[in-house]
Amino acid sequence: MKNLINKAVKTNRLSHSEIVDILQDETCNDYLFKVADYVRKIRVGDAVHLRGLIEFSNICGQNCKYCGIRRDNSLVERYAMTPEDIFETAKRAASLGFKTVVLQSGETQTYSIETLCEIVKKIKTLDIAVTLSIGEKNEDEYRALKEAGADRYLLRIETTSHRIYNELHPDMSLSRRKACIHFLKKIGFETGTGDLIGLPHQTNENIAEDLLFFQEIDADMVGLGPFIPHPQTPLKDDVGGTFEKALKVMALARLLLPSANIPATTAMETLNPKGRIIALQSGANVVMPNVNDTFYRDKYQLYPGKICLNDEAEKCRKCVETKITSIGRSIATTKGFRGEK
Ligand code: 5AD
Ligand code: FES
Repeated sequence: MKNLINKAVKTNRLSHSEIVDILQDETCNDYLFKVADYVRKIRVGDAVHLRGLIEFSNICGQNCKYCGIRRDNSLVERYAMTPEDIFETAKRAASLGFKTVVLQSGETQTYSIETLCEIVKKIKTLDIAVTLSIGEKNEDEYRALKEAGADRYLLRIETTSHRIYNELHPDMSLSRRKACIHFLKKIGFETGTGDLIGLPHQTNENIAEDLLFFQEIDADMVGLGPFIPHPQTPLKDDVGGTFEKALKVMALARLLLPSANIPATTAMETLNPKGRIIALQSGANVVMPNVNDTFYRDKYQLYPGKICLNDEAEKCRKCVETKITSIGRSIATTKGFRGEK
């Protein structure tokens, strides 16, 4: 198994069956994490990129069965921040030293494309990078957002298995989602994707397909985490994913896409109090602290147990910085495009 992992370090390649073998094997996990940490160090360096996450609306027209803010969850108190409020939050993030803000929301028509473009343009005057994570849009809309100055776009594929995708995403289509990701890449967005680990009926074969998909599209960013069952969703009684498995998939993503930006995700920290630090030592090089006002935080719970629910942006920033420096890493001072250290 170690030979297989060593081969991947040299060639950045693994076949489907090799990935399945590594996922199945439990004896080589620590070795895999160490090697992914080494590849991270050589390829993207020791500096950790911080992205300030602004969850600007939890209104969502989709009904993904795992997601806490799905349309049918009537227990969620819905909100939509005003463009002014979004800009002020971005300004605060910039003044806290963030070089990127991530604007994330449910899939909502609350904001017209013109309004979204205005928000992007205004934030770009702060000289920071803008990442969007606002779901599926049509080609003209994606183009308009790019022209407005947005730099990056996150759209997780969630799973590449047709069977699982169709089961979990009513009225959505895997091929349409793939087409969105291809289009985002084509028009020049730094494009991020990723999946959920531990979905019902998901096999190692499915996860191997996901990883090969990330590599096939040459994803600039890969964000993944364990599926954590939300009590107000149809999957509330499911067992969910484990921290260790998500960590393994993340480490494999580093081997297959050595120069990609890979976040230590919040979902990982939800399952393990040291989750993000362990992830940063197993291949990750990005952290996305929440910069929202605490008023909104508890209303944006995709999964239960969200961390930092009552922490102000400044506190999260400092806390993350302390953790990162305590393991001998630094905070990046660049905007952190792919390959920029
Ligand atoms: N557990 C973990 N992650 C989730 N997401 C949505 N619901 C859950 C859940 N229950 C993830 C999806 C989405 C991202 C923003 O949050 O992968 O793309
Ligand atoms: Fe809205 Fe999943 S239900 S993102």
